[in-house]
Amino acid sequence: MLDTLPPQSPDALLALIKLYAADERSDKIDLGVGVYRTNEGETPVFAAIKQAEAKLVAEQNSKSYLGPEGDLGFVHALMPYIFGKDATKGGRIEGMQTPGGTGAVRLAVAVAQKAGVTAVHMGVPSWPNHAQILNDIGLETRTFGHSHDDGTAHLDNVLGAIRTAQAGEAVLLHGCCHNPTGIDYTNDQWDQISAAFADSPALPILDSAYQGLGQGMEEDAYGVRTVLSAVPEALVAYSCDKNFGMYRDRVGALYVMAQNADALPPILSNLNALARASWSMPPDHGAAAVRLILRDDDMTQIWLEELAAMRTRMRDVRGQLAAAGDVGTLDLRPLGQQHGLFSVLPLSKDQIQALRDDHAIYMAGSGRINIAGLHVGNIEKFIGALEVVTAQ
Ligand code: LMR
Repeated sequence: MLDTLPPQSPDALLALIKLYAADERSDKIDLGVGVYRTNEGETPVFAAIKQAEAKLVAEQNSKSYLGPEGDLGFVHALMPYIFGKDATKGGRIEGMQTPGGTGAVRLAVAVAQKAGVTAVHMGVPSWPNHAQILNDIGLETRTFGHSHDDGTAHLDNVLGAIRTAQAGEAVLLHGCCHNPTGIDYTNDQWDQISAAFADSPALPILDSAYQGLGQGMEEDAYGVRTVLSAVPEALVAYSCDKNFGMYRDRVGALYVMAQNADALPPILSNLNALARASWSMPPDHGAAAVRLILRDDDMTQIWLEELAAMRTRMRDVRGQLAAAGDVGTLDLRPLGQQHGLFSVLPLSKDQIQALRDDHAIYMAGSGRINIAGLHVGNIEKFIGALEVVTAQ
């Protein structure tokens, strides 16, 4: 039977990693998958993580099973950063550890479906895996345009989606550092989005995979906190893979806010059952390291400083791109106002291919670039290549 399976094309973003690795040109530039890179083009393990891992190796005396909810110490230690001082909303919020942000999104969508959701509204473009997960789970996807051509968010579109959404529908939004556009809602726009949710029967699903890589840990939490203050229930998918640099260790969590504390246990029991049937329990190591950091003031300080340095470097790169202004047919100024690892350049497929073939510059087929792939040593080459391919 297995030979009847139609072949699937490899995930385009992950395939790019291999294509880049196979390219032997020494001046190649990787603007593909979303990992942070230093000015030297490296993705080092955070110093705070190194410390926490050393402590973990020294102190961990068992690797016995935890359970589908994973490391609840990790789950709870993150909550003040995500939800603020009243992190549990009077006992209405609880979470469980998931294999990365992808596991969290998948669990969110699966539990929403179990609760009767049949369709999910989301802005496009979005992280390509959002649509894949919805499709795989069997939920209908309804899309609206996320942004204007001038590089700002299209508020009317998202408000329209929330206002027209019916009971049995969810609206999936990025918490911050929108992937792929880098175009976030302003605080004022989040206020309007929250007011619209307050009058809508739709279930908010918020995907927060880049907290701290935009404007700051607190600043980047504004959208999630504001929406949660306006609605009776919501799901928040969270990833530590970028803000702790844990990518391959798959460190994530799914949080649920219920109407009241009594409504939480049955929801959690469903999340547990879904997790058990999917991955049984999440991988421990990365989450345990994050827990150790967040329970130690010194390590927390080191982590926050490392995160701030990443943010500053990415802002510098954005500033340099914006300062280049008009490059060929492109206007790079809006990139200076966008947040996080990504922005999208309006390039044609041929131009993206020419960047790869003629200049060894690798980016997603959507024109998404990883801002952190640029640094003092390659940004001039990049801008020059953009000039060349857009003139062709
Ligand atoms: C990305 O968008 O590059 C990251 O979120 C990595 C991934 O899993 O796609």
